[in-house]
Amino acid sequence: MEGIQRIGVYTSGGDAPGMNACVRAVVRTAYAHDIEVVGIRRGYEGMIDSDFVEMTPRSVSNILQKGGTVLKSARSDRFRTPEGRAVAAENLTEMGINALVAIGGDGSMRGATLLNQEHGISVVGCPGTIDNDLYGTDETIGYDTAMNTAIENIDRIRDTADAHNRLFLIEVMGRDAGFIALNCGIGGGAELVLIPENQSDLKEVKKQIFGLMSSHARSSIVVVAEGDQLGGAQRIADALKNDPKFDFIDLRVCILGHTQRGGSPTARDRVLASRFGVAAVEALIEGHTNVMVGLIGGEIKMTPMKNVWSRSKSIDYELINLTKMLS
Ligand code: F6P
Repeated sequence: MEGIQRIGVYTSGGDAPGMNACVRAVVRTAYAHDIEVVGIRRGYEGMIDSDFVEMTPRSVSNILQKGGTVLKSARSDRFRTPEGRAVAAENLTEMGINALVAIGGDGSMRGATLLNQEHGISVVGCPGTIDNDLYGTDETIGYDTAMNTAIENIDRIRDTADAHNRLFLIEVMGRDAGFIALNCGIGGGAELVLIPENQSDLKEVKKQIFGLMSSHARSSIVVVAEGDQLGGAQRIADALKNDPKFDFIDLRVCILGHTQRGGSPTARDRVLASRFGVAAVEALIEGHTNVMVGLIGGEIKMTPMKNVWSRSKSIDYELINLTKMLS
């Protein structure tokens, strides 16, 4: 690499609590090495629209503890085309940006790879998504906060469920992955957990729920990942409601949805995000490109960007057995 002129930093895809801590760390680390940083608003959309903002160590004061992302985020259809990416690359060059730190999920990493391959811009990624479904890191920015938010809500629902002896189907986020559901299921004491990685059979699920409610004569909580193969909590609830065998069950659905994306990041997410931000800038300075920094076995490691979006991270199947044993 010819040397870094200016670093561009952006957040892209679904926002995640802790992204601001990462932006702050990128800016402050770069300035500590006398490198300027430009913030790119709204991810790849902003790159195409030249939505740039100068960032300084002082401009990132007081954002560490804030949820959302001060740089805003977007999912960009225009960037999916080579023409869109060419405009983005031209705009970056005009701003003197020849290195990027991308903070986001698999789509963001894929976009960064394309910029590198097609236009030679150095890129390093920081994993940021509440879903935790990124290969190359044990944990992503926002995952811990999202889990804590979900568990806090599950606890609250448990109180009211118990008061009325109700069955609650609680849907948590996770379009393609069950990390949040599985771990919140364990942490929230769910009687049953349904995740996308596991074959869900409606007949079997109904049998389990029937067993739970008829033998317990008390409340039960089923945690359902948004991307569960049966189509989510509402679909399952509808199937139960349409079956007279379940008439004896008082059933409610609660979809936690985007509540899990907001809020102040936990201490764990703040530290993780800060470590990633520092590591990403240091990686660029050392001449690395097309890699994502991640936490593997407690240490910061780099993984080729291509592996991040072409491989999938497996859930811990042992945890499924754990949910069964503990319910
Ligand atoms: O960020 C990941 C995620 O929260 C998924 O769990 C969810 O399916 C999706 O984003 C929702 O995206 P949007 O906010 O664009 O509806």
